Amino acid sequence: MMRVLSGIQPTGNLHLGNYLGAIRNWARMQDEMDAGSQCFFFLADMHSLSDHIPAEERRQTVREMAATLIACGIDPQRSVLFNQARVPAHAELQWLLNGTARMGWLNRMTQFKDKAGKNREGASIALFTYPVLQAADVLLYQATHVPVGEDQKQHLELTRDIATKFNTDTGVDVFTLPDPYITKATARIMSLRDGAAKMSKSDPSDMSRINLIDDNDLIMQKVRKARTDPEPLPDNAAALEGRPEALNLVGIYAALADITPDQVCTRFAGQGFGAFKPALGELLIETLGPIRTRLTALKADTAVVDAILANGGEKARAAAAPTLAAAYDALGLMA
Ligand code: ADP
Ligand code: TRP
Repeated sequence: MMRVLSGIQPTGNLHLGNYLGAIRNWARMQDEMDAGSQCFFFLADMHSLSDHIPAEERRQTVREMAATLIACGIDPQRSVLFNQARVPAHAELQWLLNGTARMGWLNRMTQFKDKAGKNREGASIALFTYPVLQAADVLLYQATHVPVGEDQKQHLELTRDIATKFNTDTGVDVFTLPDPYITKATARIMSLRDGAAKMSKSDPSDMSRINLIDDNDLIMQKVRKARTDPEPLPDNAAALEGRPEALNLVGIYAALADITPDQVCTRFAGQGFGAFKPALGELLIETLGPIRTRLTALKADTAVVDAILANGGEKARAAAAPTLAAAYDALGLMA
């Protein structure tokens, strides 16, 4: 039996990296699930407290991101889709795990170091303890598989450390140890402007990424302007070494067409980017067009999205309750 769980921060403006690196894998795991397995996907709105966001903007972004997940294929009939704030057990379990997590462990988290930057003293406590809340998210549902991008691997290792120490300290096997599930081929989609930087919403140049809301013309324009080199495509992917921009575009094509980078090279061997880019643009339009259409329809109907989240929240609360109760009990807390 598989328990799949993953979350994403409601930050708006999802891009191709988020889609191929995360959400498409969620949808695929959902589609391949067998009877007895379950998928939980949530908007990490409690995690978003680590940044100051005005209340109305937070509400809107959570709705928009939920709509995006549904547009990308997360089916609320088959998966439990919810926003974290609807399940107070996440915050409660985090507090219980604060007794287990060590300062030294959190001090080693690279995401905190990256996000806090030079302003460590001014960073919020929420940014520092973010990985403990993430551990609570995962452990609460006895998740076995956690589909994430490469950058979340360290947080999953911490989750396992916390679970192991809690189980050992209390002498009760309260938590299942989760495994990260990382799809190598799409773990790092790179910027269209710089093959050494990952595609990210925080890149100041909008030309560096394909957003899920970009229209067909803009998608084509971004692909045409993507940085490349003057060489033609080789007949195998290994020969792309030292050509990070070319490798990235071939990787994107392969992911979208569900073939290997080698097969892409065979298909375009000897051709230049003048031929390859329009083909890639078409493939992107074919994939993202239907997602955008569904998203536009869902955005116009916030009541539907709100009802889906309320319903998912109810199911998640029921699923989380036994583990939270077991954790209280293992600690001798009389709830
Ligand atoms: P961003 O880097 O744009 O701020 P997030 O950190 O919010 O994106 O990531 C959300 C999810 O998307 C995570 O699971 C992350 O691993 C994945 N992800 C983000 N950027 C990429 C990328 N360029 N390639 C592959 N996966 C990505
Ligand atoms: N930290 C993850 C990110 O930045 C989001 C997240 C929060 C998450 N809780 C989670 C991912 C639990 C997997 C499981 O993308």
